[in-house]
Amino acid sequence: MYKILTLNNISVKGLERLPREKYEISSDTSSPDAVMLRSFKMHDMEIPETVKAIGRAGAGVNNIPVDKMTKRGVPVFNAPGANANAVKELVLAGLLIATRNIYPAMKFAETLEGNDAEVSTAVESGKKNYVGSELHSKTLGVIGLGAIGIRVANAASALGMKVVGYDPLISVENAWKLSRNIQQAMSLDHLFSQCDAISVHVPLLDATKGLVSKERIAMMNDGAIVVNLARGGICDDDAVLAALESGKLSSYVIDFPTSKLLRHPNVIAFPHLGASTGEAEENCAVMVADQVRDFLEDGSIRNS
Ligand code: MLT
Repeated sequence: MYKILTLNNISVKGLERLPREKYEISSDTSSPDAVMLRSFKMHDMEIPETVKAIGRAGAGVNNIPVDKMTKRGVPVFNAPGANANAVKELVLAGLLIATRNIYPAMKFAETLEGNDAEVSTAVESGKKNYVGSELHSKTLGVIGLGAIGIRVANAASALGMKVVGYDPLISVENAWKLSRNIQQAMSLDHLFSQCDAISVHVPLLDATKGLVSKERIAMMNDGAIVVNLARGGICDDDAVLAALESGKLSSYVIDFPTSKLLRHPNVIAFPHLGASTGEAEENCAVMVADQVRDFLEDGSIRNS
């Protein structure tokens, strides 16, 4: 019997890939053969020596001490691309909420009361107060052209946006093989200098920490939007808040809010929802369960 320790809820579809006659799945931390998790932070946890593999049902692995595990010879599996559609759709939602004043307009609509004539008069005042702007013809910069970035680029392009992309690891030719909708920027600074909005799709690493900086925000078009559904820390939040105050930025869409960000009216914050669709949860769980099972049973490694 293999023992699997689950540190977060893992979709049943994924757990079904681990047959009950061979796998015992529980939150019992004693002598597990493998760990499966979503966002549980493993850095401060004492990881039992019996652990032979770790499976993260998501793309990012920054909640796992990967270096420590690599030294122990323990592979860390993840699920790149498995939740890319879910993230793409929330990026579009964030951009639309920002440009069409959707949240304040809905809050206003919730306050409407009275008879039909009174509601109709109030609706007309709301119509004047919540005039938005269009994404069509605006320029979106996509930073990171992996599974999510490419999907965001294609979806934004379908809305009539001009898309500029940047990825330090992907050449112009290869970016075009992935999507004909992307014009590649020569550098990050070049990308920022063209954009009305940017969306980041890179992991949080030393090289990407503070990548959306005061200097780069200053290069963007006035009233620009920053979308960060990747990881907190990629944007310099103090620089973003100052730019929201000055009007340089009109909105900041963030999936990893901090208390100071939550206080700003132009921050559109989600509670780490990018990958939270039933479909994405199933896809991620199936992908990592297959990898963990194959590794435990025959030592094969398809992605780690
Ligand atoms: C990811 O890294 O893909 C997400 O953080 C997954 C999740 O929401 O658990």
